[in-house]
Amino acid sequence: MENAPTQDAARALLAFWRAAGVDMDDAEAIFSAKAAPAPRAAAQNAPAREPFQIQPPAPRPKPKAKLQPADDAVNTAKALAAGATTIAALRAAVDNFNGCALKATARNTVFSDGVDGAPVLILGEAPGKDEDERGKPFVGRSGQMLDKMLAAIGLDRQSSVLISNTIYWRPPGNRDPTDGETLSCLPFVERLIELSQPKLLILTGKAAAQTVLKREDGVMRLRGRKLQYTREGITAPVNAMVMLHPAYLLRQPQQKRLAWADLLLAEAWLEELGVARKAHP
Ligand code: URA
Repeated sequence: MENAPTQDAARALLAFWRAAGVDMDDAEAIFSAKAAPAPRAAAQNAPAREPFQIQPPAPRPKPKAKLQPADDAVNTAKALAAGATTIAALRAAVDNFNGCALKATARNTVFSDGVDGAPVLILGEAPGKDEDERGKPFVGRSGQMLDKMLAAIGLDRQSSVLISNTIYWRPPGNRDPTDGETLSCLPFVERLIELSQPKLLILTGKAAAQTVLKREDGVMRLRGRKLQYTREGITAPVNAMVMLHPAYLLRQPQQKRLAWADLLLAEAWLEELGVARKAHP
């Protein structure tokens, strides 16, 4: 009982650092782990001490190269992206790019999963913990949800879909990426769309929709519509649609009704475009 104020203070401190964008996963795991009971004899003589200690998170790998200032970074990204003539070359360019500050705290670069040049290109926001660990987009809980959604309309990562994000490194503590971080990745995102030439571009969630379409409307206004992605210099506009993010559906399962409507729209559009899909229930 007498430790309760100390625990409350520690909890408040963890919440404060998480809100400030610091990755607190390791510290929270230690905090919530059950403290092993101290041996009785030792406990009698030992001076009173705190029942738990918050350890600093395990050190992250050091960035391999010095990070660049923001303005240079966007120009470097543009030059690297323009120089890549295949998706494989673009993947290598992103891997070698040191202009996004998030690279310093991430374990892995998360570029894509699925089939290069697939007829459907899906873009999400940013890698989370699981993606950072495995170096692939959408492999955690929201990835499992995404796979189920795709399977419902005969799509999958093995044959018909390429999945990527608008940010290639995990923001610490899953905070929102800054404008600078987003802008430094954008040239690669735009080049991926150009090189993929998908029959249909699917943007999941607000961040991907607003970043790629350069619009400020919320997802609820953009979803459920046949849109066109275009920008200066692009050979031809790309069919595009916005869907609710799978992570949002996990938090708000009552919205699955809208997601289902979006999937039906995607299915009908793919049918119209003659995109081959697997048989599905
Ligand atoms: N959410 C995203 O937007 N992208 C991922 O890769 C994982 C979760």
